[in-house]
Amino acid sequence: MGIHEADTAAGTGEALENLSDEIRRFPPSPEFAVQANAKAELYERAADHEGFWAEQARALTWETPFTEVLDFSAAPRARWFADGRLNAAYNAVDRHVAAGLGDRVAIHWEGEPGDTRTITYAELQGEVSRAANALVALGVDTGDRVAIYLPMIPEAVVAMLACARIGAPHSVVFGGFSAEALHTRILDAEASLVITADGGYRRGAAAALKPAVDGALAHGDTAVRHVLVVRRTGQDVGWTPGRDVWWEESLAAAADVHEPVAVEAEHPLFILYTSGTTGKPKGIFHTTGGYLTQAAYTHRVVFDLKPETDVYWCTADVGWVTGHTYVTYGPLLNGATQLLYEGTPDTPTKGRWWELVEKYGVTILYTAPTAIRTFMKWGDGIPAAYDLSSLRLLGSVGEPINPEAWVWYRHVIGGDRTPVVDTWWQTETGGIMISPLPGVTVAKPGSAQTPLPGVRAEVVDEAGEPVGNGRGGYLVLTHPWPGMLRGIWGDEQRFKDTYWSRFPGRYFAGDGAKKDDDGDIWLLGRVDDVMNISGHRLSTTEIESALVSHPWVAEAAVVGASDPTTGQAVVAFVILRADAVERADEPGEGGDVVATLRGHVAAEIGPIAKPRSILIVAELPKTRSGKIMRRLLRDVAEQRAVGDVTTLADTSVMELIRVGLNQPGRDPM
Ligand code: WTA
Repeated sequence: MGIHEADTAAGTGEALENLSDEIRRFPPSPEFAVQANAKAELYERAADHEGFWAEQARALTWETPFTEVLDFSAAPRARWFADGRLNAAYNAVDRHVAAGLGDRVAIHWEGEPGDTRTITYAELQGEVSRAANALVALGVDTGDRVAIYLPMIPEAVVAMLACARIGAPHSVVFGGFSAEALHTRILDAEASLVITADGGYRRGAAAALKPAVDGALAHGDTAVRHVLVVRRTGQDVGWTPGRDVWWEESLAAAADVHEPVAVEAEHPLFILYTSGTTGKPKGIFHTTGGYLTQAAYTHRVVFDLKPETDVYWCTADVGWVTGHTYVTYGPLLNGATQLLYEGTPDTPTKGRWWELVEKYGVTILYTAPTAIRTFMKWGDGIPAAYDLSSLRLLGSVGEPINPEAWVWYRHVIGGDRTPVVDTWWQTETGGIMISPLPGVTVAKPGSAQTPLPGVRAEVVDEAGEPVGNGRGGYLVLTHPWPGMLRGIWGDEQRFKDTYWSRFPGRYFAGDGAKKDDDGDIWLLGRVDDVMNISGHRLSTTEIESALVSHPWVAEAAVVGASDPTTGQAVVAFVILRADAVERADEPGEGGDVVATLRGHVAAEIGPIAKPRSILIVAELPKTRSGKIMRRLLRDVAEQRAVGDVTTLADTSVMELIRVGLNQPGRDPM
């Protein structure tokens, strides 16, 4: 299972102590409560689990209405609304145009250099239809997989919806992944087409994307027949005639009318790869009817969306699940007007986000704790220079938010007015699961608090027994929900083993959690070999495999050490092969080895996986059964006293590591 019992106990205990006795409480303001989409009675209505979700599903437009709600007879694989048929792109775009809202802005887009585009729902319908026709012309059929590797430009949303329109599951790969990582994902999904761009703008420069696609396909073992290339930066690109096609040219040649393909509710909508506890990423796949139901419902109640007046901004990249559910699907299903921004928060100045909030009159902002902590570090003076009075709700996602950052967010960004919703969910859950309801919940900074109406969660102990209030344990979901993953692409057994075997009949999330004295849930971080770096999931084993694939490395162990800004940071302990040790021993060479290995990880996985520090060691702490004791390595990485070493096969190892690290030139931290 990859759970370290000892690790969990230690980690949980420490986090529990950090929960201050004095939890602050923020009741909703009467003005917010009175206009809120969600009222307290929603919790009561959800007592009828299936009836409640059926009601939410009926808010979508179905080509063939469903009569069945939930079929869990083949558990853990659920089927929701299975005899209904619908189309995701029709629901996200066309039905708003049909309702007379074609002139409403769907997307305000701002490129990093400051170029802008405004796209109405009617224009989006034309673009998505053209793109769907272009895909069909390139031989993409219903059921074929399409890989998408794009920067944050409107074409990313258009590409996803064009795939959905023809029922071709998309697999979006984050632009920060390397050619090697992209290759594995293209191969695993057997994608027949890749949509990419020449590049995108990041930190004031054009960053190339196309070379990574060329590199991925150079292996020659994929099913890819065509690469559709958006021209964004105008930089030179390598070109494979017959395979590569310009997006602009194919769309120009395509009609702007396309009949959306109504698919069964259980037809796969997308695959999204995420890190697990082994070296191989998991292709989490979601289907159409249930996922869309959860996306639309949660987006409406958690963000209190008023589509006529709100300007919504979720800062996530489409390469992550937050970008799927709360950039592409949720907001568009609800007819929202949203802002999409291509670049980084500090380009050209550290006030860029706040300038955008002021410029577009953003009312709802959804971002990650890492970003919030970064802004805290940069200082209150930066946001203070902008008019942020349009904001009326703030959201947080991706990692635990510390109470201090929560309070800062509400005070400095929200002007002490706005509710803050701390939303817990995962790639696997498809949509938000645990979150306060704005206007209803008395918020507690640092706690995601309550399962949403329709969601049933518990915190259980080792034996699977629910813990009482004031106790910690493992977070499980006890009832199927519409947006739940339907599996791991091509690996049914891994799906069962990973999520359903630890506590039979219940979904094990991989997170530790605590229930406070009121029964509210506090998330305490991962209890498995998954790290959370700036809200991005990375696997310790995947980075270890990358390190070990380098000829200089004999053995590697990776841990996520706590980091004040990014939540966790990657720290690697590496044993070098004898020939490489000589290199490392030469003065100045140690740094070279470290730089080389960091570069190697970036090439194997992507720059996001680069270890913050690599420590060259002579030994690794292992149990008698040969398992690396990451808990001890975390102690070293976090520079605190090393914990209980009695289960170590060789207790002198930690001393060796400590002494080794104190040698000059060996510790790059
Ligand atoms: C963590 C991102 C605490 C958690 C949507 C989970 C959180 C993992 C929160 C999923 C939160 C997400 N509080 N922890 N509000 N939200 N997490 O798949 O460890 O990229 O298991 O989905 O992020 O990450 P993923």
